[in-house]
Amino acid sequence: MDDGLEQRVIALTQGETDAVALMATLACEVHHSDERFHWTGFYRVVAPELMKIGPYQGGHGCLVIPFSRGVCGACARTGEVQLVDDVEAFAGHIACASSTRSELVLPVRNASGDLIAVFDIDSDLPAAFTQADATRLQALLDQVFADVAPAC
Ligand code: SME
Repeated sequence: MDDGLEQRVIALTQGETDAVALMATLACEVHHSDERFHWTGFYRVVAPELMKIGPYQGGHGCLVIPFSRGVCGACARTGEVQLVDDVEAFAGHIACASSTRSELVLPVRNASGDLIAVFDIDSDLPAAFTQADATRLQALLDQVFADVAPAC
């Protein structure tokens, strides 16, 4: 991720509270900021225990993910970052693209702590993500989504 990512995203999203507008902007900016990232996007919480695809960049993503399934579901269920070095070693991983080797999924919350979505970044490289990536992206998500109302 380049040094200007946060500054760019904050400038582009200033004053915006529409969840999809924010997700589209973040998916685009984050995806194109780093060559490790091969799929970058959001799964939105649309009903209790259920997520549907949101804005993304990359090949097609599956449309529906219940909280009970996959790496994204684990993030939504536990509220914790999922940093998966090897997706084949993660029981229940949902393979949208067979080329995916590692994955980082972060919870997207507003300032009240409501879970709005999860942010999923997939890489075709093994162990592509670091804890520093997770910390940096979580801080950006927390800032950008602070004033977004939950959909359900
Ligand atoms: N790999 C994810 C599913 C989403 S896609 O890969 C775009 C998971 O197991 O949750």
